[in-house]
Amino acid sequence: MKISIYKPNNADEIEQLFIKTFSDSEGRSEGEVIGGLVRDFMDNTDANDLYCFIATENEQIIGSIFFTRMTFESGINAFILSPAATHTDHQGKGVGQKLINFGLDALKENGVELAITYGDPDFYSKVGFGVITEQVVPAPLKMEYPEGWLAQSLVGDEIEPIAGKSYCVEELNKPELW
Ligand SMILES: CC(C)(COP(=O)(O)OP(=O)(O)OC[C@H]1O[C@@H](n2cnc3c(N)ncnc32)[C@H](O)[C@@H]1OP(=O)(O)O)[C@@H](O)C(=O)NCCC(=O)NCCS
Repeated sequence: MKISIYKPNNADEIEQLFIKTFSDSEGRSEGEVIGGLVRDFMDNTDANDLYCFIATENEQIIGSIFFTRMTFESGINAFILSPAATHTDHQGKGVGQKLINFGLDALKENGVELAITYGDPDFYSKVGFGVITEQVVPAPLKMEYPEGWLAQSLVGDEIEPIAGKSYCVEELNKPELW
């Protein structure tokens, strides 16, 4: 398996991976929503605000993750990991964790200070994320599952509480995604 940064000519295959993976795990309509989200990122999010990584085996994309910029009034350099997918036939073999660790290293090298995600604490705790409250890291929209609000510092151990509001990229700025 090889992990790399995505290229624009991977866009159709990545969109299909997310549609298939989320349709299998959460039903066709969720598959379409998440496929639409990643297509929107790839088509419209500013390149400075987006990282996408892919895992490839036998020239097929079997996993992919997206990070997009989060903006805080404090000015901290932060990105949110969402969404992540490993093809249904390849889950449980470490692909997701390898992709996320690769992505976090790349963010660190680029000076990102804080990584955030919104998902299952049992899975994301395997790659360094811990549950946080909105008092520590404000969320940009109202969350349906605040227990899935997670973060990790990429520059030290402790996350200092961040005052003020936060903003995500426009493509994530939709209540139904939170
Ligand atoms: C979640 C997901 C990305 C994990 O990728 P993966 O390649 O299967 O994960 P890994 O093989 O690296 O890690 C597997 C570990 O995570 C756990 N895990 C895997 N999927 C999980 C899930 N959906 N929820 C909680 N834990 C999960 C497994 O128990 C396993 O732990 P173990 O090694 O101690 O047994 C993948 O299962 C997936 O695409 N699921 C469907 C879409 C989804 O839910 N995406 C995440 C939300 S954005």
